[in-house]
Amino acid sequence: MIGIMQDEDEDEDEDEDEDEDEGDIMIEVRSLTKSFGSLEVLRGIDLSLAKGQVLVIIGPSGSGKTTLLRCMNVLEMPSSGSITIGQAQLTFQQGLKPKQAEILALRKQSGMVFQSYHLFPHLTALENVMEGQITVKKRPRKEAQAKAMVLLEKVGLADKGEAYPHQLSGGQQQRVGIARAMSIDPELLLFDEPTSALDPELVRDVLKVIKRLAEEGRTMMIVTHEMKFAREVADRVMLMDNGVIIEEGPPAQLFNQPQQERTRQFLSMLQGG
Ligand SMILES: Nc1ncnc2c1ncn2[C@@H]1O[C@H](COP(=O)(O)OP(=O)(O)OP(=O)(O)O)[C@@H](O)[C@H]1O
Ligand SMILES: [Mg+2]
Repeated sequence: MIGIMQDEDEDEDEDEDEDEDEGDIMIEVRSLTKSFGSLEVLRGIDLSLAKGQVLVIIGPSGSGKTTLLRCMNVLEMPSSGSITIGQAQLTFQQGLKPKQAEILALRKQSGMVFQSYHLFPHLTALENVMEGQITVKKRPRKEAQAKAMVLLEKVGLADKGEAYPHQLSGGQQQRVGIARAMSIDPELLLFDEPTSALDPELVRDVLKVIKRLAEEGRTMMIVTHEMKFAREVADRVMLMDNGVIIEEGPPAQLFNQPQQERTRQFLSMLQGG
């Protein structure tokens, strides 16, 4: 598909206080752990991300990538450690549940795009992008609608506002999912294998939207196995295995001169070698 995004120079109409300088650390994860019963899935994750940076996370199945993203959004309650996103900070301790208001404050800082889009089936594309604005941001309906239209246009779906999810292709649904994640003006966007459920011919449009967001300076954490895309979009790439970070660095370094044997193994496995 050609020309999926209007090319006019739409300025970000951020209505949030976003006056931190580029380069400020905005995301900080310290000693984060997560267990399911006796299974330790995250075993001490430390990472920091400056505003506008894109972190791509790779790693074998079961290494904890989805769990890490879900913890960032507190869809999963971490067992211990701390997460800071912008002004919101939460410390987790075994047996101590943070206050609901604190959880919501942190959750509002990030928007998640899931592998399989999770749109509300009974709502149109437009309504899907309005929903969070009304419930989370308490925006008046009219304002939410106007913003939803701008966002749908941004992902190349200006003409699909009235369509229900079942009337959209997978790639289109995923782009609605991206518009929805952005609708609450999150500091951080989280993508969990956003193209892995898509037919190959639909992947490109979705990656193009994400790349555009990176160029606009969105801060993002992206789990993907699209290596070419990762090279293009990432400021840093991180390899996870078995709940720990094996190696982390700029894409050129991680892909071309990995420091760890485990990284070399994983990369050669991806290449089918
Ligand atoms: N709700 C849960 N209850 C119990 N175990 C879970 C739960 N969610 C995840 N796990 C386990 O945690 C481990 C990490 O899962 P996770 O989904 O984070 O891996 P992943 O790196 O995203 O893998 P994939 O590449 O296959 O998506 C797996 O062993 C998984 O079975
Ligand atoms: Mg996963």
